[in-house]
Amino acid sequence: MNITICVAQTKAAPWEEGFRAQLPGAHVSTWKAGDPQADYAIVWSPPQAFLDEQPGLKAMFNIGAGVDAIMKLRLPPQAQVVRLDDAGMSVQMAEYVCHAVIRHFREFDGYEADIAAGQWSYRKPRSRADCPVGVMGLGVLGERVARALRVFEFPVHGWSRSPKQIDGITCHSGTEGFNGFLAASKVLVNLLPLTPDTQDILNRETMGRLQPGGHVINVARGAHLVEDDLIALLDSGHLSGATLDVFRTEPLPAEHPFWQHPKVTITPHTSARTLRDESIAQIAGKIVALSRGEPIAGVVHRDRGY
Ligand code: NAP
Ligand code: GLV
Repeated sequence: MNITICVAQTKAAPWEEGFRAQLPGAHVSTWKAGDPQADYAIVWSPPQAFLDEQPGLKAMFNIGAGVDAIMKLRLPPQAQVVRLDDAGMSVQMAEYVCHAVIRHFREFDGYEADIAAGQWSYRKPRSRADCPVGVMGLGVLGERVARALRVFEFPVHGWSRSPKQIDGITCHSGTEGFNGFLAASKVLVNLLPLTPDTQDILNRETMGRLQPGGHVINVARGAHLVEDDLIALLDSGHLSGATLDVFRTEPLPAEHPFWQHPKVTITPHTSARTLRDESIAQIAGKIVALSRGEPIAGVVHRDRGY
């Protein structure tokens, strides 16, 4: 069995070693143009040239949850595309989002500014009922985040393509459920996959439907957010803040207004990192299952794009 590693912006050697250790019978190598065909590929943002050399590929395993960079490419027709299925990401995402929501709700930025100015001052406690959180996307990550927010007793709304029932979460679905979901939310968390249907979904109109004083948390992809629309809504006062982990251009260019905007908190695409050991163990298990003809979880539906 040939396994090829083709991972952009990532050191390939530790992945090679990890797969050799997990699958001792396999031939594991890092892709170079002209190499022999792979049966299985481990990929992150692979170049088209790699895929063009793999007409017989059985499956490609993305070492992240989001497959948008792959779905833009011309894929070998029979190859399954498999996303990382949690592998330690959902707890990180829950930590990140709960931290951002609580920081907004408890006004920790305001306290930090007061303390820096030498002021011992109290802010009026806020009611949780006035801080409903809407989670866009109720998949592997979104559902975990929604459940984690409920632990802190925030009212939580969720929005997905297909209807869902999740204990304690008010679930909305489809285009018909979108405006009601937005109107019910004050803090908005984006955990949608990037597809033609969801690109630019955070824009002046949709974010304008959030309750006044709202906060936007984008942890999915930069191309979901129309950045100038966010800045306009922050500057008009409709939104009180934003926490952004992903950007249309990454790294965020030095001259970008988000760096200095007083209502924007940025992090460098780090809300849920790929954990190498967990990911190798998960993917190796799936390769074994596929080679035995067994079904696996996390296969991307090519027509939906996620
Ligand atoms: P997932 O399991 O595929 O879940 C996607 C959710 O979005 C599903 O609930 C799906 O609805 C919903 N959805 C998709 N298209 C929709 C549409 N047009 N309208 C309404 N709902 C729609 O994905 P995941 O594992 O939770 O990951 C979500 C995204 O997070 C990834 O695609 C990636 O871009 C991003 N991510 C970011 C980081 C980071 O570090 N910043 C890390 C990991 C992932 P159904 O349930 O009805 O299908
Ligand atoms: C990271 O952004 C991922 O999609 O896993």
